[in-house]
Amino acid sequence: MSNRRNFLKKVGGSLALAGLGTSLQTKAEGNSIPLQSAIKVSANDRIRIGLIGAGIIGHYDTDTALKVEGVELAGACDLYTGRLDYAKEKWGKDFYTTKDYRELLARQDIDAVLICTPDHWHEKMAVDALKAGKHVYCEKPMIQQINEGHAIINAQKASGKVLQVGSQRASSVAILEAKKILQSGMIGELTYIQAYCDRTDTRGAWNYSIPRDASLETVDFDRFLGHAPKVDFDAKRFFRWRNYKDYGTGAAGDLIVHLLTGIHTITDSYGPHKIYGIGELKYWKDGRDAYDIINALMSYPESAQHKSFQVYTRVNLCDGEGKGGFGIKIFGTEGVIDIGWNDFKVKTLKRGDAPGFGGYDSYTSFSKKQKEEFKKWYESTYGSSKSGYEFVKEFSFDAPKGYDDRLDHLIVFFNGIRTGSKIPEDATFGLRAAAPSLACNLSIDLQKPILWDPVEMKLV
Ligand SMILES: NC(=O)c1ccc[n+]([C@@H]2O[C@H](COP(=O)([O-])OP(=O)(O)OC[C@H]3O[C@@H](n4cnc5c(N)ncnc54)[C@H](O)[C@@H]3O)[C@@H](O)[C@H]2O)c1
Repeated sequence: MSNRRNFLKKVGGSLALAGLGTSLQTKAEGNSIPLQSAIKVSANDRIRIGLIGAGIIGHYDTDTALKVEGVELAGACDLYTGRLDYAKEKWGKDFYTTKDYRELLARQDIDAVLICTPDHWHEKMAVDALKAGKHVYCEKPMIQQINEGHAIINAQKASGKVLQVGSQRASSVAILEAKKILQSGMIGELTYIQAYCDRTDTRGAWNYSIPRDASLETVDFDRFLGHAPKVDFDAKRFFRWRNYKDYGTGAAGDLIVHLLTGIHTITDSYGPHKIYGIGELKYWKDGRDAYDIINALMSYPESAQHKSFQVYTRVNLCDGEGKGGFGIKIFGTEGVIDIGWNDFKVKTLKRGDAPGFGGYDSYTSFSKKQKEEFKKWYESTYGSSKSGYEFVKEFSFDAPKGYDDRLDHLIVFFNGIRTGSKIPEDATFGLRAAAPSLACNLSIDLQKPILWDPVEMKLV
């Protein structure tokens, strides 16, 4: 972390985080700036990775992993020939590809795998990979079903390998800086968090482009289904799997999990004990069975890490405001931290001893004589301040231009492999973020609150 602070100093200047002594500027040039420091490695200190699931995020994760010193790509697995062809086009005609991830796991020259497949494959692949002696970077949500996850925790412990879940919020500089502000007490006691993710267009609602040659000739559909119910080939189910409960986890597992990852990182929380969700398929009636709007309330109990607080969270895939966006707003008794993706704003206030008077107050109903008497008494008791509080601080934080939280997250993963350093978003963290997210779906389906034990990580 000291290198990280050096980096902050080096680029620092234009923006001071009041009271915390951290300075940053927003003008640093270049792409994918990391604030975490990757370990320096010798020429033959290589970590060779294999990619399982060469779809959209598989490419983002792999390209980012390859920016970390000493990381090499050894092969990729996918079920659609178009994606295997593209892998060879991108990484060389002799690049190793397979449709069977177990063949990738059997390769001795692969140290770690990136699991970037649909959610219903995560648990099985993570466990198989750990058993095969591979380190695992498993995309979020770590699990698809609320009763999954313990098998991954156990396999990770038994293997001694590193497992990190892929919600990069856990390594985001904005989240980590906001955490310092909350911990400093600057916004008073945490009362409530409002967290949302809104989207407007069809791709935002997971209707990704389907290649023109999608067919049983090019897609291993049976293998994709795995343990999911058998259905006839349907290109939409394969390429837009998030829209179906059999393979995805809906708005809750896909997006609320990012929000909870941020919230748990900032608060050090193990999670809520009561989750109540409402959800509907409002707009994208295109054959999907996943909801496109979810609102959920969560109650976080007092724990060794924090006092009790509440969370209101929302995903709206049919947002007519057109702003879209992603936010976590942390309300304290004396201020607020309003976090975007890699930025935030802070506003703090202090309540004075003076209660204030006037405005919406019984004072307005006093007679002229009473008003005069009251004013005289008030000023002799409290002085001239009529307001019950005053704003104290207001400032904002932006990550340096080009900052990439995914790169920081992968640096944390590879440093963990090389040095045994702590993985904050490990399998336990992954389960504690994913299960309450999935509990939103369960609550919607059962139409009742879900009780969850965040310590033991099981339904109550
Ligand atoms: N951290 C993030 O920011 C982030 C962003 C997007 C997606 N994700 C997560 O990444 C995962 C993948 O999402 P995506 O958008 O890239 O999906 P995608 O559909 O674009 O890619 C998934 C790929 O997995 C392949 N696949 C499916 N079953 C397989 C199997 N059994 N063996 C091998 N390959 C298989 C498919 O052929 C496809 O190419 C999801 O779990 C998603 O939640 C994370």
